[in-house]
Amino acid sequence: MTDTRARRRFRSQEWFDNPNNPGMTALYLERYQNQGYTREELQSERPVIGIAQTGSDLAPCNKIHVFLMDRIKAGIRDAGGIPMEFPVHPIQETGKRPTAALDRNLAYLGLVEVLHGYPIDGVVLTTGCDKTTPAMLMGAATVDLPAIALNGGPMLDGWWNGRLAGSGTIIWESRRLLAEGAIDYDEFISRACASAPSLGHCNTMGTASTMNAMAEALGMSLTGCSAIPAPFRERMSMAYKTGRRIVEMVHEDLKPSDILTREAFENAIVVNSAIGGSTNAPPHLQAVARHAGVDLHVSDWQKVGFDVPLILNMQPAGEYLGESFYRAGGVPAVMGELMKAGRLNAGAMTVTGRPMGENLQGWESRDRDVILPVDAPLRENAGFLMLSGNLFDSALMKTSVISPDFRQRFLSKPGSEGIFEGRAVVFEGPEDYHERINDPSLGIGEDTVLFIRGVGCVGYPGSAEVVNMQPPDALIRAGINHLPTVGDGRQSGTSESPSILNASPEAAVGGGLAFLQTGDRVRLDLNACTLDALVPDEEWAARRADWTAPELRHQTPWQEIYRKNVGQLADGGCLELATAYHRIVRDLPRD
Ligand code: FES
Ligand code: MG
Repeated sequence: MTDTRARRRFRSQEWFDNPNNPGMTALYLERYQNQGYTREELQSERPVIGIAQTGSDLAPCNKIHVFLMDRIKAGIRDAGGIPMEFPVHPIQETGKRPTAALDRNLAYLGLVEVLHGYPIDGVVLTTGCDKTTPAMLMGAATVDLPAIALNGGPMLDGWWNGRLAGSGTIIWESRRLLAEGAIDYDEFISRACASAPSLGHCNTMGTASTMNAMAEALGMSLTGCSAIPAPFRERMSMAYKTGRRIVEMVHEDLKPSDILTREAFENAIVVNSAIGGSTNAPPHLQAVARHAGVDLHVSDWQKVGFDVPLILNMQPAGEYLGESFYRAGGVPAVMGELMKAGRLNAGAMTVTGRPMGENLQGWESRDRDVILPVDAPLRENAGFLMLSGNLFDSALMKTSVISPDFRQRFLSKPGSEGIFEGRAVVFEGPEDYHERINDPSLGIGEDTVLFIRGVGCVGYPGSAEVVNMQPPDALIRAGINHLPTVGDGRQSGTSESPSILNASPEAAVGGGLAFLQTGDRVRLDLNACTLDALVPDEEWAARRADWTAPELRHQTPWQEIYRKNVGQLADGGCLELATAYHRIVRDLPRD
């Protein structure tokens, strides 16, 4: 025992086995023993592995982790570790008002305090629903103790009347049918519920599947982890293997800082384009990168990712859902195809202890309908464009969801391909939009661009998924399902709308969107990557001079703290002061 201790003293032993401070050691020991751990265990040369539990009755997307826990703990035990599960502040995308995005940074803060302040040597991060994944990765990156991500997996595929019913995608489609009068309220609800047939997170390539694919592409979860559907037996085996592996990682001292490198983030960006991933990935990965101390800029999404083809045929950019994605090989099959085409940094280190390129050996698509080869993709140039202009410094547009109809109608005018000029109609948040969208006096027609503002990190607060605004019912009945939409908020990762979103800086802090008025002409140029209000400079300057910041009404203390400290979506929507803290595991807290 003494020999082993000479080789490696774990951080947890500063709590449980510190003869220099017998008083505190006794306090730590007696209280952890009272739940059945023995002194022998706690003082042995065995690492304590925290398991960050994000699932609960309030967080159904991650609830599968409650049932996976015995497999995770078995893996940890079998590898010689001591598991200690602890709760994470719930972040349920479809439960938390005003938006789950507000809670990402709160869960992050909580995780940092737990990992830093308790006797933990390594951690299993349970992930799933949209913001749980970035929150866990951000916290692990800040603290920098060995960490591995285990997601809960998507739900089984949903079905409605013999057709696939995907999370979110069926809602956007049904909302239009409801507006047309083709279905009633009860059918609308039934269709939505059909898309959620089991435990798990969204079964489309929405933000949850995207962020878990990102965790795997970054090298933070075991190969093949992210796409396994929640109820499958392979999900339980993956939980066991993840538990085993984190113990080895602690012995190897393999930390997030060894894995979360610039090369890893470039891989994630490439994978995001190839899978038609969510527009929420940029702010979340930006936040993870900043907490990891990696230099990443919102413009990197276009630089690194725009010319990557879409090779995954999954909703919302394609047809299939999570079960098909898994059977076609999941993320490693996508990455195997990308690696063959020379699109990945094969040397990036991963939680397996091996570089990504080695993990991907032998992986390729097992179903060419679902995962296509890079040289015969669903669509070329499927990444995000970064736009700028007098309305914002940056905003993103997901090009993989631009439908042929939208392109034809708005972007293919002879002689001005990729350019659209229209009249702005501006809404002050989603309530205003819902109240006025069908008001004929707004004159919304085919040349209208819908704007929404006041829905960014500070304005909403938290940044709301509302930019994918539906046209007025009358236009939908006339066959126009999408108008160009722009805003300083976000949109659901399951949306098939080619919105221009995440505009930064947001209106609430004096970004250009704040000065736009209904009736202004605006010009979108996808070749030059610009969107501008066609308002004379003097007039624009006068409006800026007249502008006063909106009064913000906080409903909770956290809303106020958040608003005072949060940055913009382009920079990850982080608590700015938190981004100064790196690798804090090295700085042991006082006894
Ligand atoms: Fe939780 Fe989609 S709402 S995963
Ligand atoms: Mg959402």
